[in-house]
Amino acid sequence: MAETKRKILLTYALPYANGSIHLGHMLGFIKTDIWSRYQKLRGNECHFVCADDAHGTPIMLSAQKMGISPEEMIADVQKEHEQDFSDFGIDFDNYHTTHSEENRELASSIYLKLKENGHIKVKTISQLFDPDKSMFLPDRFVKGTCPKCKSDDQYGDNCDACGATYSPTELINPKSAVSGATPIMKDSEHYFFDLPAFEGMLKEWVHSGSLQSEMANKLNEWFGQGLQQWDISRDDPYFGFEIPEAPGKYFYVWLDAPIGYMGSFKNLCDKRDDLNFDEFWDKDSKAEVYHFIGKDIMYFHSLFWPALLDGSGYRQPTNVYTHGFVTVNGSKMSKSKGTFIKARTYLEHLQPEYLRYYYAAKLSSRIDDLDLNLEDFAQRVNSDLVGKLVNLASRTAGFIKKRFDGKLATISDMSLITQALEKKDTIAECYEGREFGKGMREIMALADVANAYVAEQAPWQLVKDDEKLPQAHQVCSIALNMFRILATYLKPVLPKLASDVEAFMNTELLWSNLDADFSQHEINAFKPMMQRVDMDKVEAMVANSKENLEATQEPEAAKTTSPLDHDPISETINFDDFAKLDLRIARIAKAEHVEKANKLLKLQLDLGGETKQVFAGIKSAYAPEALEGKLTVMVANLEPRKMRFGMSEGMVLAAGPGGKDLWILEPHDGAQPGMRVK
Ligand code: MSP
Ligand code: ZN
Repeated sequence: MAETKRKILLTYALPYANGSIHLGHMLGFIKTDIWSRYQKLRGNECHFVCADDAHGTPIMLSAQKMGISPEEMIADVQKEHEQDFSDFGIDFDNYHTTHSEENRELASSIYLKLKENGHIKVKTISQLFDPDKSMFLPDRFVKGTCPKCKSDDQYGDNCDACGATYSPTELINPKSAVSGATPIMKDSEHYFFDLPAFEGMLKEWVHSGSLQSEMANKLNEWFGQGLQQWDISRDDPYFGFEIPEAPGKYFYVWLDAPIGYMGSFKNLCDKRDDLNFDEFWDKDSKAEVYHFIGKDIMYFHSLFWPALLDGSGYRQPTNVYTHGFVTVNGSKMSKSKGTFIKARTYLEHLQPEYLRYYYAAKLSSRIDDLDLNLEDFAQRVNSDLVGKLVNLASRTAGFIKKRFDGKLATISDMSLITQALEKKDTIAECYEGREFGKGMREIMALADVANAYVAEQAPWQLVKDDEKLPQAHQVCSIALNMFRILATYLKPVLPKLASDVEAFMNTELLWSNLDADFSQHEINAFKPMMQRVDMDKVEAMVANSKENLEATQEPEAAKTTSPLDHDPISETINFDDFAKLDLRIARIAKAEHVEKANKLLKLQLDLGGETKQVFAGIKSAYAPEALEGKLTVMVANLEPRKMRFGMSEGMVLAAGPGGKDLWILEPHDGAQPGMRVK
């Protein structure tokens, strides 16, 4: 079958160069990387490029605060970002920066074409200006009292307390967040891009039917509100590119940011003889161009960007694919809860492929948010990858090596393998259509069938009987062929595991080899490929994320004195809700260290007639001997939980942020073990 090789240029949103990569960012990078690796696995020509987004006021001010030049800061941050991505197995074909010569040239030439075509307008506008710093203030850098609910210390564009949106000039008693000075109004000339002129072309794009439905709905909503002229200039001082023929005026960061996709690709083309920039970007290009992004930046990618390209004579993106936001344990990522987890903190505790798989298993082609529930994460990875996938090899490989000269049998009954191969096209469609969750379910269903087969055949019994040895050889060979097929299906998601499987199976995992004949193929010794996710490590990662926060907290934040500031009182519950909790006084009869657990103490709690065992994460705050004999309060009717070290049959109550700062509750004199707390 002669399939033509597709030519694809693929991008993911460019992360800002003034902060670390966190697990929210990683969703989009992992998603795009899986899609890119899938395209390459299918033999398509796919170029995955990205860059740091290095311009703008926040970046200029961050560098100032650190006492270094913006150039120095963005270089440091880029290094950190690239290391994070590489450690997560994100396989870019090029990673660049928007502060590059390629980007300066492209941004300037695009702007000049827009101007030539009559799409740039000049208008004088009045804006808040910091007289001390001699700079215009972006909305985020003005603070004051909310005009609606009168809460203090709100940003210039919206109020955190009541959710109102307004213009910074409406704030009561506004102050510059940069210097504290009271801003004044000042006039300045700004350059505007004539977005409304592109309404017809944008509407056509929506009607083409190729967009995600949520994206098409959003665009229609925006058309309904009427498109506005877009302010693309900023005044000195600004960190960015100066606008040609306009001294002291700079391109707004969002003008040159998407052009950064082209800049990075240009940089790649200049390094490679076989790649031609124009072939991908000319108006009549036959190549495909996809932008993967998060939902917060749809406006820029679905309105401004196609219009900018159209107005300057370039092609349109083939599509823009949007994903939702990551929540952790059901809520927005929170620094105080330790769920604002940096990529680096994750990597210090856990394997990257756990997260790649978990995200894949929960991703669809839609824009819904994705919850990273940490318990579910551990369970899902342990059950699917360790319990189902790797298990298939770990319980059969040894027999092949020891009893059958390390060679796979010629399989007589191909039915199971055929069943797996019949899913090839379905799984391919799931990858292509970005329905990764559905794809993972298809693959795991095959793993279930294979495991059931192995369990039923029990090769470990068959090998005990010489007559049944050939049957054992068949079973183990079928299992390992299934393992090879499933690992090939999973290769875009689990590149590291795939490469371990390649070493073990002594073959390259190729889509075109899925149905190859492995009769008499020699394999290598099996080495453990994936450890179970240890909940202790997950907890340590969360604790660490809180600690990192303390270490990096800025002095002004130290003013917050009440724990309520970052952990407000929860929603009201009724008495019945409360009465479900069975809290009891308990005597700590015994407290001891747990081998290999770095946070836990094992407690025996005497409830006056009954003893319960509890593992409590209080090791960093208490020496066991200091606890023995003391009274405390426990949740006595909490569902017991199986931990790596044994059963935990409840919880002791403690307060504090964690680490050393943790205090368990102790009742006043007179309370007796077993008494109910109510
Ligand atoms: N610099 C711009 C993008 C310019 S593209 C020409 C930007 N940077 S960002 O660092 O704020 O975000 C980068 C990407 O991460 C965006 O796609 C954004 O949607 C995504 N995410 C940031 N936080 C996220 C979550 N909590 N969850 C999922 N994705 C999130 O925007
Ligand atoms: Zn308000």
